[in-house]
Amino acid sequence: MTLELGLNQQPAHTRQGSSIGQPLTRRDGFLKVTGTARFAADNNPPGMLYAVLAVSSIARGRVVSLDVEAAKAHAGVVEVMTPLNRPALAVDPDAKDHSFMFRLDLLQNDGVRYPNQSIAVVIGQTLEAATEGAALLSPRYEELPARVGLDGAKSFVPRGVGVGNPAVQEKGDVEAGLKSARTRIEATYETPAQYHNAMEPHAIVAAWDGDRLSIDTPSQGLAMAQGRIAGLFGIAPQNVHIRSPFLGGGFGSKGMISGPQVLGILAARLVGRPVKLVLRREQMYGPVGHRAPTRQTLRMGMDGEGLLTAISHHARTTSSTFDDFFEPAADASHTLYASPAIATSHDAVRLDTGTPLFMRAPGEATGSIALESAIDEAAHACGMDPLEFRLRNYAEVEPMTGKPFSSKALRECYEQAAEAFGWASRPLQPRRMRDADGFLTGWGMGTATFPALMFQAEARAVLRADGSGLMETGAQDMGQGAWTAFAQIAADGLGLDIDQVDFRAGSSDLPNAGIAGGSGHTATAGMAIHNAGAAVIANLADLATGDEASPLFGAGNEGVVARGGRLYRRDDESRGESYAEILVRAGLTEIEGRGKGAPDPASQETYAMHAHGAVFAEVKVDPDLGQIRVTRLVGAFAAGRVINPRLVRSQYYGGMIWGVSFALHEEAVTDRRFGRIQNANLADYHVPVNADVPSVEALLVHEDDPYVNALGIKGVGEIGITGTAGAVANAVWHATGVRARRFPIRIEDLL
Ligand code: MOS
Repeated sequence: MTLELGLNQQPAHTRQGSSIGQPLTRRDGFLKVTGTARFAADNNPPGMLYAVLAVSSIARGRVVSLDVEAAKAHAGVVEVMTPLNRPALAVDPDAKDHSFMFRLDLLQNDGVRYPNQSIAVVIGQTLEAATEGAALLSPRYEELPARVGLDGAKSFVPRGVGVGNPAVQEKGDVEAGLKSARTRIEATYETPAQYHNAMEPHAIVAAWDGDRLSIDTPSQGLAMAQGRIAGLFGIAPQNVHIRSPFLGGGFGSKGMISGPQVLGILAARLVGRPVKLVLRREQMYGPVGHRAPTRQTLRMGMDGEGLLTAISHHARTTSSTFDDFFEPAADASHTLYASPAIATSHDAVRLDTGTPLFMRAPGEATGSIALESAIDEAAHACGMDPLEFRLRNYAEVEPMTGKPFSSKALRECYEQAAEAFGWASRPLQPRRMRDADGFLTGWGMGTATFPALMFQAEARAVLRADGSGLMETGAQDMGQGAWTAFAQIAADGLGLDIDQVDFRAGSSDLPNAGIAGGSGHTATAGMAIHNAGAAVIANLADLATGDEASPLFGAGNEGVVARGGRLYRRDDESRGESYAEILVRAGLTEIEGRGKGAPDPASQETYAMHAHGAVFAEVKVDPDLGQIRVTRLVGAFAAGRVINPRLVRSQYYGGMIWGVSFALHEEAVTDRRFGRIQNANLADYHVPVNADVPSVEALLVHEDDPYVNALGIKGVGEIGITGTAGAVANAVWHATGVRARRFPIRIEDLL
């Protein structure tokens, strides 16, 4: 079965134009704004019950008792799942084969290793009954003191950071570089824990039919989720069917299948009926990942010309007590600024928290805040304009590896954004600008960067005898517009108008589209689509060029071009015929092609591949109250080929607004006595609202990259968040003369 998304329900005006480079609106936008898009939790199969998690209120210890009888006696409660009756799994949820697999809490024992860990699941006829039942469990605990904070117990050097980068890296002699420097800076910056807080909480509707499992759940990687679930339950992957047509945001937290999603499947197994489980907002502060806090120390040396002689970037971060994910914050210093000596290192503290996870630009987002702040401090120490300082230390090759860049239009980003912002009239010294209302005004900048990553993906293309085309890949759309971009690449690859292409995605029975993460989804699944299109066109050309009745006979496969639903002779475009004519004459109803997307190992070996950008920020600070307002943001980004400028710009806006959030709003506050997150809700966990978002401008800088992939796509999902927070912090300094080194910046930091 494939999923029909009703994409043809769009109003006609959105269906004009086609193909790569067009600023089309989202193909799923109409369904979303009319409320007809069906998200995972909107599904209600017949006989469905509601499951509610009971979660731990302590950070560390064990559950001594649960009043299961009281819960079961409550009207409407059907069953309570605890470690005593939880259905068996084929593998231990604490087993781990590789660094890209995470340990899950699936009621395997009575232990508690972080607040909000699942300790039971209550299943009821209604959501209310299950919720009330869960409240009656009255857990009693044996509690141990919570380990909290970056200063915690013994720190250690992790074996790897992120999903496997070396924790310590060094080039040249940093200490010698610092010693020989004319000017030096040293500063320590702190970034807080953050939670993904997608609008749509993790949710699952699970139904078993014998040993076949059917689920609706948001996932950034359907094939990976399918494999993990199949492994846990000891069934064949093809027996697990996942539908994930829409995600209400993911940001990394839906990259891996989470514990609560698997508990929904276990609950359905236990009661033998379909079950829906949806996390409450506060329950998302634990089992579904977070961005770990960091404390980063930067040391830089500069010679008399303002050239860097050394960069040392050390990051302390945290992980859980039972698994390994370490925010690779210091790695940001590998790629941006030329220096004869660079050293990066990480150490970590284990805390009683859920395991951290990749969260939007993991590493680069946290690291670039510290790096871009330190660069600003270094420029000031040298008496130089921050843009001039960055240009002076511009990296012509990747600093850490010495590899050439596959492409790098960062200089153009600096120029275009600075021009649009009006940077040239910036006074060098801080506290020199006030607006008409007396607010201190400051301008700051930051450099944005993110690697151009690719993973593995597959796609299937079909051309039909009625002249239409089909493109299938199990891709994800988290709201970023991926499906629109993919449909554009599909239309281009098939040589059809976008209206003639039936694009299908969002289901695990389609070809594996890999993960929507690492800003690599468009490049990876896009290349699979492109190659599948090329394959089906080649098959069709074989038919025509080998058929004496065709005007293309004898042209050879290379001698044929596809456009507008027709094949033409390359040497004589007046001779050609339609796809439909070729198929009908051959007696075929359709013809198929398949393609893969994957990184090219040779290019990867030779080139450093990154997207770049420059962000300029204006802030206004109340001189009496210290209140900070961002009033203007201008970014310019170069990320290879742009498939859809409207959607790409929207991605940059989203990233830059998240950068404002990082600088001024977001922070998960831990109660140091109990280890609980005190602001586990969207009222107290601050994110920007419209009133906080200034005028935001994102410029798209042209960049051709012949090496990243045949389409020249680098990826735009995460780069906007890098650079922006540093730009805001630097603008705050320029307004006030106060260097805030703790994020988010608070009013009291300025007084
Ligand atoms: Mo992202 S953190 O790669 O979803």
